Amino acid sequence: MELDLVEITGLFEEIRRFYSYVSDESRYMRFLAAVRDPASVYKHLWSCGGRSFLVLEGRRPVAIVDVTPCGEEAEAGIVVADALQGRGYGTRIAEIFASLLPRLGFWRVKAEIYRENIKALALAKRMGAEIDCSTIVCVVRLQLATRSRAQGPLLAVI
Ligand SMILES: CC(C)(COP(=O)(O)OP(=O)(O)OC[C@H]1O[C@@H](n2cnc3c(N)ncnc32)[C@H](O)[C@@H]1OP(=O)(O)O)[C@@H](O)C(=O)NCCC(=O)NCCS
Repeated sequence: MELDLVEITGLFEEIRRFYSYVSDESRYMRFLAAVRDPASVYKHLWSCGGRSFLVLEGRRPVAIVDVTPCGEEAEAGIVVADALQGRGYGTRIAEIFASLLPRLGFWRVKAEIYRENIKALALAKRMGAEIDCSTIVCVVRLQLATRSRAQGPLLAVI
């Protein structure tokens, strides 16, 4: 089935609803372990120009992807609902965003990933990202399409 994107920037209840499908382990990997209510972090993220997208397969929520601008680079974070992890959704979603982000004006994407996060690092490697690890966190960066290749309409849903 196709994956659809719906922007949920500013919709705190959508964030809370989705994170009810997300385990403590996945919240930790998404750097959200320190807060009881993830929506409190989104308040800050959105006030800095960040945008959040709910990924749906039919009516089923699959993932949230957050994109925060940092110059021409976007900082991205993703969490896939625990019951659906390890089935290729993260990889499909990363591919969708790699082609979407240049149309939103971003030419590079960056993500921070805990060194122990095997799935996220495998995903970054598959996408061809540069990976730079310190003791605890790896910073991954991926060069996206060049400006000339990034022409074209935005997805209708954005
Ligand atoms: C990281 C995450 C987004 C990956 O999405 P996913 O749908 O689970 O991943 P996929 O099924 O597409 O698999 C991605 C890679 O992980 C590997 N993988 C999947 N499950 C695995 C497991 N249990 N153990 C080891 N590797 C695994 C896959 O083989 C694939 O690697 P490959 O391309 O070399 O084959 C998802 O697991 C997640 O939301 N985790 C919690 C939040 C998080 O870590 N976010 C990233 C930091 S912002």
